Amino acid sequence: MGKVIAIDGPSGAGKSTLSKLIAERLGFQFLDTGALYRATALHLMRNGLKEDSTDEEIASALKGVEIVFIDEKVFLKDTSRSYEEDVSEQIRTTDIGHYASVFSAKKVVRDFLLQKQRDAAIENNIVAEGRDMTTVVFPHAWRKFFLDASEQGRAKRRYLQLKEKGIDITMEDALRDIQERDRRDSNRDIAPLKRADDAIYIDTTDMSMDEVLERMLEAIGN
Ligand code: C5P
Repeated sequence: MGKVIAIDGPSGAGKSTLSKLIAERLGFQFLDTGALYRATALHLMRNGLKEDSTDEEIASALKGVEIVFIDEKVFLKDTSRSYEEDVSEQIRTTDIGHYASVFSAKKVVRDFLLQKQRDAAIENNIVAEGRDMTTVVFPHAWRKFFLDASEQGRAKRRYLQLKEKGIDITMEDALRDIQERDRRDSNRDIAPLKRADDAIYIDTTDMSMDEVLERMLEAIGN
């Protein structure tokens, strides 16, 4: 089993930017678990599954589905149909963010992804970021962090990120999207977003990414 640096926090707190930077600095692999939930949601949506679909329907739609990371790209594979597609761009829309949050509240979806996430650490040192890294997937992680920021600050970051990708969005939409997802992610019954007692808490609102990075590296002890 490799070393795991587990990072949780709400949307837009800087988790993926910082996870990538830390992974680069330490020579660890980066595990973007949000991408797994997003690619799963994309597959379910395309196959007509809905919020009120039964567990059996969802489980059957997920048979033969694999999500693979290759060179920072995310591939969705359906082994039963010998089909494979680069979905890296498509999973980044606010629509897919919404459906990822809806489907990720379901046990059948979380169970589908749990072992895949743990397997990533079998032979590699990893930086894993998401909503339940420190509490459920890697409760015994080598290092644990909870990154937070004010709602306004997170909405602004999300707005700028999406704009940069050419996605048309207003600041109000970014704020509403973040509020809605946070509410759902924090209040669901299974693996809700919460701060683990032993996770180092950092409020990144008034900090630059460099400052947060330095603080984290210091805490990691490298
Ligand atoms: O982090 P990102 O915004 O890409 O995640 C998309 C959605 O996937 C989150 O809003 C959350 O509902 C879900 N998710 C989750 N557990 C994780 C990572 C993401 O439930 N570990």
